[in-house]
Amino acid sequence: MKIYFAPLEGITGYIFRNAYSGIYGHIDKFFAPFISPNAKGPMTPRERKDLDPENNNGINLVPQILTNRSDCFIDAAKVLREMGYNEVNLNLGCPSGTVCAKGKGAAFLPETMELQKFLDDIYSFAVSCDMKISIKTRLGYYDPDEFYDLVDIFNDFPVSELIIHPRIRSDFYKGEPRKEYFAYALEHSKCPLVYNGNIFTGRDYDELSTYLNSSPDPVMLGRGLVSDPSLADKLKDFTAETDPVKFRRLHDTLYCEYQKVMSPDINVLHKMRDLWSYWQHLFDGSERDFKRLLKAKKYSEYEEIVYHIIQQ
Ligand SMILES: Cc1cc2nc3c(=O)[nH]c(=O)nc-3n(C[C@H](O)[C@H](O)[C@H](O)COP(=O)(O)O)c2cc1C
Repeated sequence: MKIYFAPLEGITGYIFRNAYSGIYGHIDKFFAPFISPNAKGPMTPRERKDLDPENNNGINLVPQILTNRSDCFIDAAKVLREMGYNEVNLNLGCPSGTVCAKGKGAAFLPETMELQKFLDDIYSFAVSCDMKISIKTRLGYYDPDEFYDLVDIFNDFPVSELIIHPRIRSDFYKGEPRKEYFAYALEHSKCPLVYNGNIFTGRDYDELSTYLNSSPDPVMLGRGLVSDPSLADKLKDFTAETDPVKFRRLHDTLYCEYQKVMSPDINVLHKMRDLWSYWQHLFDGSERDFKRLLKAKKYSEYEEIVYHIIQQ
């Protein structure tokens, strides 16, 4: 079974990817948070640093591009190819207000004529230079039934993998994924499919498999894998338990590596706080500690609280 780590902007940057893969392994592909090429250039220096192969040693990484302009997509893909990448991913799912206001991400989905022209351009480029383009999509912008036309459109192109997050834009990341549309894709799509959405436990995966009458493979995991870093190992039957020693190593590595590149201290603490919003459930009964953790302003304070939580 193949497991892909979903792109999570603000979380799964190169520091996280290195820390995670040095400790847990078993991820077949990481997808990088999107870059947004525009007239100013294909990527910012910060995005380039995140994608620099030297910062992603031994990690099977796929850069993701968010744009509705084929010229910008192709310019970025060319630079990424020069950096050594032979697959890029197109973001057709981002629900954020600022992205959708510009007609990108999920907002590109209902513009089917423009989308077809865009795909024509980028896949002609991909074929001409033997580069793979995978797509990460939602079901639609306004209505999940937009998906039927989208499946037909994607069928006309050599999509290397179609990653489906079965929600529409207004669902954001809430509610049950609309699994019945993934089942539709299994029957009607010609593209290799990847399921993404709300797999937080082995049980979630088993329930999905029962619903679909087959075990989806590959699957892409996002929040579930941050919340339980052992989830991939569990799904692959390498372990049954969340290993506290590995978790502590992950925490300490991230904490140490963020201190090397971020300042002032409070920014590091904010970063760790974001992660603790995913990790809190791993440590029952420390509500008071978590409240204190959110307020910590100094490393010494943070460390005292965290090690108290972890050792409980
Ligand atoms: C904080 C956050 C940042 C995200 N950033 C991206 C992104 O850069 N590109 C993308 O395609 N999806 C992004 N997503 C969506 C995830 O990749 C994924 O599709 C979504 O979380 C559903 O999968 P999950 O239920 O396994 O988390 C983001 C989601 C969250 C919560």
